[in-house]
Amino acid sequence: MLFPDYRPRRMRRNETLRRMMRETTLSVDDLILPLFAIEGKGVKNPIDAMPGNFQLSVDNLVKTAKQAFDLGIPAIILFGIPSKKDALGTQAYAKDGIVQRAVKTIKDKLPDLVVITDVCLCEYTDHGHCGFIDGQTVDNDATLDLLAKAALSHAKAGADMVAPSDMMDGRVAEIRATLDENDFSQIPIMSYAAKYCSSFYGPFREAAQSAPQFGDRRSYQMDPANAREAIREATMDVEEGADIIMVKPALPYLDIICRIRDEVDLPVAAYNVSGEFSMIKAAEKMGWIDGQKVMMETLTSIKRAGAEMILTYFAMEAAALINA
Ligand code: PBG
Repeated sequence: MLFPDYRPRRMRRNETLRRMMRETTLSVDDLILPLFAIEGKGVKNPIDAMPGNFQLSVDNLVKTAKQAFDLGIPAIILFGIPSKKDALGTQAYAKDGIVQRAVKTIKDKLPDLVVITDVCLCEYTDHGHCGFIDGQTVDNDATLDLLAKAALSHAKAGADMVAPSDMMDGRVAEIRATLDENDFSQIPIMSYAAKYCSSFYGPFREAAQSAPQFGDRRSYQMDPANAREAIREATMDVEEGADIIMVKPALPYLDIICRIRDEVDLPVAAYNVSGEFSMIKAAEKMGWIDGQKVMMETLTSIKRAGAEMILTYFAMEAAALINA
């Protein structure tokens, strides 16, 4: 035989054929935009390593959230930067905390935008760890109650969904029980189920001022070398009552997204994290890559791997491009 019977190139001959053969199409519906809420009025502090992203006071948050909603982006996820931090992260569950006020105001102005809140303590504790500190270690079970209080305070403020990112064992069950007992059984939990101890979070920790003041997060976030453990984490969270399973980061963990998509019947989300965003922006600025094309290729790859939702700082840029 001089040539193969099947010639895949036949189907790639022109753009119309390529459109017909395309297996994965990125949609604006897939995108979730992360936003940082800070105290004050008229505040719009640029985040150095994340061009186009800002620490926003509530008035400016509403403006950005509206832009996102007008582009067709269905959801935002909020992170809070409190003015006061303490050992117990009390601002994480304060009735008038920065996230609680941001949620209330955004939901008032944009009732149809889905507002998700990140539930964690690291932005609110003076030591920068994601839970209650006993000596040098994070006390898992003492942290659960604080996380559940934070999730409940977000729901009371009007959040549509809560997303625990702390990686304590048993937190999904604890948050589910607390929400249910308080008449919030309709509020879904998006669980950061397979969250790795990743160096790709660097720019976020600058933006959220949440770097640990001692040690690191290796005793609670997952070892990047582990894949089977991610299945156990995801399965546990399903059993505890999670509604969406998240993998984080995304690009270096496409295999994990793919495996979890196969093992679990819940919707799967992936977090295209700050370092993934910054690398593309930096290389684009150097003139080394076509930033827009690499962005679209990255997001399409994450969807192709099996994520039906992508949390990404590219959400607005990608939506504008998809809509164009
Ligand atoms: C809070 C949290 C982090 C991120 C999301 N939620 C930081 C961390 O765990 O250190 C990272 C997001 C990003 O890098 O874009 N625990």
